[in-house]
Amino acid sequence: MAHYVGAIDQGTTSSRFIVFDKVGSIVSVAQKEHEQIYPGPGHVEHDPLEIWRNTQGVIEQALARKGLSPRDLAAIGITNQRETTLIWDRRTGRPLYNALVWQDTRVDPVVEEFARDGGHDRLRDRTGLPLASYFSGLKLRWLLDNVPGARERAAAGDVLFGNIDTWLVWNLTGGVRGGCHITDVTNASRTQLMNLGSLAWDEEILNLFDIPRACLPQIRSSSEVYGEAADGLAGVPIAGILGDQQAALVGQACFRQGEAKNTYGTGCFMLMNTGETPYPSKCGLLTTVGYRFGQARTVYALEGSIAIAGALVQWLRDNLGIIGSSAEIETLARGVDDNGGVTIVPAFSGLYAPHWNAHARGLIGGLTRFANKGHIGRAALEATAFQTREVLDAMTKDTGIAVKELRTDGGMVVNELLMQFQADILNVPVVRPRVIETTALGAAYAAGLATGFWSGTDELVRNWAVDRRWNPAMDAARRERLNAVWDRAVARSLDWTD
Ligand code: G3P
Repeated sequence: MAHYVGAIDQGTTSSRFIVFDKVGSIVSVAQKEHEQIYPGPGHVEHDPLEIWRNTQGVIEQALARKGLSPRDLAAIGITNQRETTLIWDRRTGRPLYNALVWQDTRVDPVVEEFARDGGHDRLRDRTGLPLASYFSGLKLRWLLDNVPGARERAAAGDVLFGNIDTWLVWNLTGGVRGGCHITDVTNASRTQLMNLGSLAWDEEILNLFDIPRACLPQIRSSSEVYGEAADGLAGVPIAGILGDQQAALVGQACFRQGEAKNTYGTGCFMLMNTGETPYPSKCGLLTTVGYRFGQARTVYALEGSIAIAGALVQWLRDNLGIIGSSAEIETLARGVDDNGGVTIVPAFSGLYAPHWNAHARGLIGGLTRFANKGHIGRAALEATAFQTREVLDAMTKDTGIAVKELRTDGGMVVNELLMQFQADILNVPVVRPRVIETTALGAAYAAGLATGFWSGTDELVRNWAVDRRWNPAMDAARRERLNAVWDRAVARSLDWTD
């Protein structure tokens, strides 16, 4: 009998395979980074073949590390960086272009063109999303417009579109020999091509964006057996797909309305379970699908997406060289008492929630001769906490629900300085669970629910346990002053470009 479930976690900077046991503990893990390709300002690409190779590699490694074989896996789930868009040739399996990463802003002019008629919110009631370069639909349109012959071949069904989940499932289930061309409702909800109510591709939006239906994957639930893996993994059911932020919602066992999690990765994404009807936002949040397990009712979520969180730490490491590794940021930031008056607004891809301003650009402000790299390090960490505060404020305004505690996960939550500052600046307790790999865990849960490895969500709730809790300790006057400085800095970063 298979004792484990495996999860592929294909993120913005790396691919991982994690094997979980019945109580949701990690049995084995392997990880590999892939190249970030920056062909010009605002352009971010990935090589889809490298991602597929790395995915195969980490599966093999994670199994080998603990002497496991595919037979030990009851199922495999997939979770992925969302919105990242690619097209490939159905016959050769070769991508026609690099994948356009979610952070890529090259379609900004197209966004403005569509917004001229009806404004940025013209598709919000049907898709839950504002017009923005972030989502896949206009990225796909760009690929079809710019790769010679792509639109005609897509219309003929010879060229397929997918986000990374679709690309991986297609390859895992046989690729050119008849791989499944599917996606799940959570990933589809980030294309801006799916109708949130019907959970089907929206004919009018396809016409508006000039997207041929023949290239789109079939939309399935997040938890069902889609097919069996081919080749080395032969026979293992592929049984769960969730976009990475929705996977974290599931991994954090936020199954009740009003429960929320915040994932601190490349970007930072807060999601709140809002129940079985889509919850519209007036305050700059996204309405999105939270999950749908098989034939059960769809659960929706409100999301506050922040484009740059951990990526700012990487930028200090890679572009400025003031730290040698991401982990050094905490030591650097602890070397000073406070930010020394320095504020960083990391608007590298404009600003996402709650501003949705494509013209914003990053800034480092408040510099004096006193400022040193410690202050810059501290301001970098604080930027994530302040952006999270803006999102939580929007969520409270939209829903009227005061979040009682914020469940956190993702790479940055090992940073205790950040977690305490986050609790202080929100004035809300911050809770880190025992397993912080909640993204992969959520994908494993989706797959294991479909195959009966787990009995239901009650069992998953029992698996969730607190590791550490940070209570707010900052006095109100200081909190208000710091938040006001942040708001002023953001106001200056908005509309930086034309
Ligand atoms: O929407 C983008 C998001 O899915 C990327 O997540 O963890 O790769 O930063 P991450």
